[in-house]
Amino acid sequence: MDIHPDIERVIVSQQVIQARINELAAQISADYAENGQLVVVGILKGAFIFLSDLTRRLTVPHRVDFMALSSYGQTATTSGAVRIIMDLRVNVEARHVLVVEDIVDTGYTLHYLLNVLRTRNPASLRSCVLLSKPDRRKVDIPIDYVGFEIPDVWVVGYGLDYAETHRTLPYIGMLKPEVYK
Ligand code: PRP
Repeated sequence: MDIHPDIERVIVSQQVIQARINELAAQISADYAENGQLVVVGILKGAFIFLSDLTRRLTVPHRVDFMALSSYGQTATTSGAVRIIMDLRVNVEARHVLVVEDIVDTGYTLHYLLNVLRTRNPASLRSCVLLSKPDRRKVDIPIDYVGFEIPDVWVVGYGLDYAETHRTLPYIGMLKPEVYK
């Protein structure tokens, strides 16, 4: 496979991503087998590809909805620095909610989001993230399903971007430092 010239090395290959999503989808389908009304909430933009692959492999009934969040400035420094720029269309009260994110870095975004959704009285609230950077965590948050733990390097592809580029690469790649310096 050709690697994009901006990519230093592949962190998680297309094949490994797809195999892990099969496992996650099977696990989630088993865990929700007895529950009705699952709402899968994708967080734009980064989660759109992961969400698409994951939900098409779920064997339990589910709805898909989206939220978009934004941090003030380049990085969130407090949980209050995150805001909702597009909200859900469905009412999640008394429904089982699974939040799907591409990556958890500091944790501020997911921390904020879970707090907001909890106030809407879902029947249950869980999170599924493709990538986690444990070394970067600033706030301790529960993550129920994790695809991969990765080191603290700048990654793009499979939904993740650098300045809105490289989101549609089929693998997770480490960006060459000269691209962002
Ligand atoms: C990314 C990612 C998470 C958040 C994680 O979103 O999708 O939402 O950052 O970072 P944190 O754990 O430090 O809060 P980004 O703001 O890059 O937007 P995007 O999904 O539209 O690319």
